[in-house]
Amino acid sequence: MNTGRYVRPASQEDATSIDILMLRGNTFVRHMDWLNTRDWMLKPDTLLLFEGEDLLALLVIPEEPSGIRWLRLMVYYPTISPQKVWSEFWNFIVQHPFVGCTTAVIAQNSQLIPYLIDCGWENKQSIVFLAKQVSQPIQQADETPGLMIRAATVNDLQQIAAIDQESFIPLWRNSKATLEAGMRAHGYTTVATCAGVACGYQLSNHLYTSIHLARLAVMPGFQAKGVGRCLLDNLNNYAASVGCDSITVNTQNDNLRSLALYQKNGFERNSQQFPVLQYQF
Ligand SMILES: CC(C)(COP(=O)(O)OP(=O)(O)OC[C@H]1O[C@@H](n2cnc3c(N)ncnc32)[C@H](O)[C@@H]1OP(=O)(O)O)[C@@H](O)C(=O)NCCC(=O)NCCS
Repeated sequence: MNTGRYVRPASQEDATSIDILMLRGNTFVRHMDWLNTRDWMLKPDTLLLFEGEDLLALLVIPEEPSGIRWLRLMVYYPTISPQKVWSEFWNFIVQHPFVGCTTAVIAQNSQLIPYLIDCGWENKQSIVFLAKQVSQPIQQADETPGLMIRAATVNDLQQIAAIDQESFIPLWRNSKATLEAGMRAHGYTTVATCAGVACGYQLSNHLYTSIHLARLAVMPGFQAKGVGRCLLDNLNNYAASVGCDSITVNTQNDNLRSLALYQKNGFERNSQQFPVLQYQF
């Protein structure tokens, strides 16, 4: 019988206590994505904090994609402070280092930031928010001969995942499983082809009368040729055809190419932003 306070990886026998914690606990961190965090709950990458036999808190920080561990979920019972919960988990993590991994979090909850800074995490960049009003259908520019935009299906996943892998730096890549979950969420995904070669894609999700552009990527060899703009024009026309009135998007404050693209195409940045903190093991 365990006594005192300790952290250990989750296992099958914890399923019921985790279910109850998820129902009754406070959520301190929740990552923005399409993956069902429940799928990770019982994997050893999920850490549980106990007091004796009682579960106090849970931390989901799996390696996904390779080499990157996003802090996806932290839930706790308010019998203990979130600061204490975080420091118990962190003390465990640094004794079992995630060799070679970058850990990262999008700090939607600003209370988290000082706890992470105290542990040596660094504030590297921010997620910023932009939106545009959907305009009348836009005629596709013909500056890139042979460029076509078509609706994607899950049969395109392999190619979409390859474009994602090539275009984004490791921290911002999405795995095939994540992209599949994104495509299956209510939305619209398109692939750009140039002379038959898949060279870019966008993945968007409906949010009531708005559409959120969740992913946009163009293969490095095809960038700065108008492919991104065509994907955006096509998305605008789709949004108009289904009666949506706005398109929202997030990007990083230092992703100047994407900011230039969005702002040239009618998106305006608002004042909201979330810091992105990282720790390199
Ligand atoms: C951002 C990205 C999608 C742009 O796609 P693209 O096909 O290269 O963009 P376009 O050729 O349509 O460019 C349209 C506008 O974007 C801006 N832009 C594109 N490439 C640029 C570059 N290398 N430098 C500066 N601005 C650039 C320009 O304003 C350009 O307009 P202009 O040609 O009239 O000057 C592409 O660079 C990419 O895939 N980057 C990596 C993934 C990423 O960051 N995605 C966005 C996440 S939110």
